[in-house]
Amino acid sequence: MSRDSGPAPDLGRVGHDLEVISTYRDPDLLGWTRRVFSPIDMAARAWVGEQMAAAGLTVETDAGGNLIGRLRGTEGRRAALVTGSHTDTVHGGGRFDGIIGVLGAIEVVRMLTESGRELRHDLVVVDFLGEEPNDFGLSCVGSRAIVGALGPEHLDLVDPGGRRLRDLLAEAGGDPENLAAACWPQGALRCFVELHIEQGPRLERAGASIGVVSGIVGIHRFLSTFTGRPDHAGTTPMGERRDALLGAAEAALRIEDLATGGVATAGRLDVRPGAHNVVPAEADLWAEVRSDDTGWLGSFGRDVEVSVNEIGSRRSLATSLSWVSREDPVLATSWVRDTVARAAVECGFEPVVLPSGAGHDAAHMARLGPMGMIFVPSRDGRSHCPEEWTDLVQIGDGISVLAETLLACDTLDEAGTDGAADNGARPCLRVGSGSRQRGESGTVG
Ligand code: GLV
Ligand code: MN
Ligand code: MN
Repeated sequence: MSRDSGPAPDLGRVGHDLEVISTYRDPDLLGWTRRVFSPIDMAARAWVGEQMAAAGLTVETDAGGNLIGRLRGTEGRRAALVTGSHTDTVHGGGRFDGIIGVLGAIEVVRMLTESGRELRHDLVVVDFLGEEPNDFGLSCVGSRAIVGALGPEHLDLVDPGGRRLRDLLAEAGGDPENLAAACWPQGALRCFVELHIEQGPRLERAGASIGVVSGIVGIHRFLSTFTGRPDHAGTTPMGERRDALLGAAEAALRIEDLATGGVATAGRLDVRPGAHNVVPAEADLWAEVRSDDTGWLGSFGRDVEVSVNEIGSRRSLATSLSWVSREDPVLATSWVRDTVARAAVECGFEPVVLPSGAGHDAAHMARLGPMGMIFVPSRDGRSHCPEEWTDLVQIGDGISVLAETLLACDTLDEAGTDGAADNGARPCLRVGSGSRQRGESGTVG
């Protein structure tokens, strides 16, 4: 809502909500850890559901475990305005990643209700289940379910603790036996708009309050296992070892070398048996690569497969490599992106267009219809760590732009948009080079 035409977000209320949800953290782990499927995540989601209901939303948990709140529009239109994000965190994560997109959406509902503004379309707020990669290596469980991209091959995954995703989804309130019920039909989405922290330094360095996201990088994740032989660490000559950890370590360094057209990270290494005095027999290397260039992602994948094979045969190790997920880059839908930019200007900001190097539920929702995202700055560009921080005032700015964007999307003449032709569900070319657009004051290069 523009500053002179409607109420601003109540920052005291938003700050209070942020404080409360921050108390739902695993006391035994670093930072503000709330891992998907943990009891603490379930408790936090119950609290979020209460806040949705108190704001006037009709709340349900769908078969994909998503918490969904709906505010009826005046025209009973089939296509809904959808917003939201996630409230789970990475291990040792912060207080803002995903969370402001859910709490901010609930605040928008309160702003609308309190100002007596009614929407033509239904407004749907989603707290997606498990956006962060879980112990199965899979991210965006809930948004995958909504777009029909969560299949039996995912449900039958087993985590290192021997648990099946199918069972954990049921415990989280989902219905894995009837997953099709979570899947939204084409036409159900007028547009999806997600408010999120940037998680990088570009907005802060540009001195900008609001980012208009041009697109979201593609992310390909894999698990590679190196199998050697357990031997006595004191008696086995150096030249006669089949050390699985050294094979995995060499692969991690190779991944760094191969990251020429994007970023690549070896983020986890599980070693067995895991003792000072036993030559490592088995090592699981969890890694991912990100880029806005689909072609380069493919060639990285081929190169890493060749490298793992080559390292394995040179070190007499058996190797395997499986792709846990491969999401290609997605562009924001041009009319939603333009609407966000205009909304930001309407709210008094000079927005900056930038790509997202982080993955989001929005990338999956783009398969269903038009998609856009709003970023607010992250202090020192830090994220996925306890130091993650965004000032309350900056969060309030993002909420104002979200409200203004949703109002504009509600009233836009549908015939006058390219929404039908451009639903964002296609691989992007390059998301970094965004052309100048209305309402844009400059781009971050
Ligand atoms: C989500 O935060 C991701 O980009 O991994
Ligand atoms: Mn995250
Ligand atoms: Mn996030």
